[in-house]
Amino acid sequence: HLHQSPGTPPEAVHVMRDPANGLEGVIVLHSTRLGPAAGGCRLWRYPDAAAAATDALRLAEGMAYKNALADLPLGGGKAVIRLPQGKFDRAALFRAFGREVERLEGRYLTAEDVGTGVADMEWVRTETAHVAGLPAAQGAVGGDPSPWTALGVLSAMEEAVRRRHGSGLAGATVAVQGLGHVGTHLCELLASVGARLVVADVDPGRAAACAARFDAQLVAPDAILDVPCDVFAPCALGGVLDERGVVRLKAEIVCGAANNVLASDADGLRLAKRGVLYCPDYVVNSGGIINVCAEHLGWSRAEVERRVGQTGERLRAVLDHAEQRSLAPHRAANALAQARIAVGYTASAQA
Ligand code: NAI
Repeated sequence: HLHQSPGTPPEAVHVMRDPANGLEGVIVLHSTRLGPAAGGCRLWRYPDAAAAATDALRLAEGMAYKNALADLPLGGGKAVIRLPQGKFDRAALFRAFGREVERLEGRYLTAEDVGTGVADMEWVRTETAHVAGLPAAQGAVGGDPSPWTALGVLSAMEEAVRRRHGSGLAGATVAVQGLGHVGTHLCELLASVGARLVVADVDPGRAAACAARFDAQLVAPDAILDVPCDVFAPCALGGVLDERGVVRLKAEIVCGAANNVLASDADGLRLAKRGVLYCPDYVVNSGGIINVCAEHLGWSRAEVERRVGQTGERLRAVLDHAEQRSLAPHRAANALAQARIAVGYTASAQA
């Protein structure tokens, strides 16, 4: 199900059907071996129930791997709700979803994903405590995870550039694709460490504003892959590096926030063959889920900072493993995650 892996079967699939409240979808518990199956709730238009289930299976497996490699006491899961046709009562829908989460008695922990937001999670919260991504008081843990995701990507990028060039990010050229929540925060961090930025977004206003703010070179959305640079940072949608994309890419390193950057396992192998250092997406973009985990388990902000700041070290372990075993990095990440899930959690990794 996951593009980059052969796919392992899920532990459980919970079908949701509550037509009175417009709810139709699934919750997939890929694995609860390391803790509650954590992963966001996606509200999206799917052609049929099978398409929704396929997406949920793939996403839940990805969450299991991401959480395992981030050393979190979490398994992996995902909820997918089919967007109702026409007008619908959003509060009723998310309350009904909350009751389904509650029925799983803590085996699934939900939060925001594509198509859902903080307000939806507040409705879920009226029915269950197994939800994160709720608004946080000033300085408290919770709220928008994207600044943490960006910080983790920066930590990973520093590690990758050091590994490749033996230097820091100052003076390095980074091409950022997608200037949304994570992309904008990432540009801010990169500018502060002296990187040169090239940026693109399909939203022209957003792209121009970002270029002006960070003194970045602006390119058209379909030209960002052709930019000669040290690092390509995909922060838009998945599947950017397909067969064509890999050939066009002029970066030495790929390190960004987008999920499922590789269109297929073969594309990861192609990147390696071309000598591009690919930093596996779910190793690099775990900052957000670390913050979600902290919110749920009551960890401090300092603990979130410490763990997100270790993203580069975790990437190093994956890249070392890849080198030692002559594996492409995406395959090394999958193998390490699967092994960790199979063995179970070690006490030393817990807070
Ligand atoms: P967002 O929706 O705020 O931003 C995405 C941006 O990409 C938008 O500005 C959009 O206009 C732009 N975009 C879309 N297609 C594009 C294209 N072809 N070329 C250039 N720009 C394009 O999303 P967000 O939250 O910033 O997430 C970005 C990526 O990171 C997504 O793939 C998401 O799944 C992933 N991610 C996000 C996390 C978070 O904490 N928000 C955590 C882990 C992964």
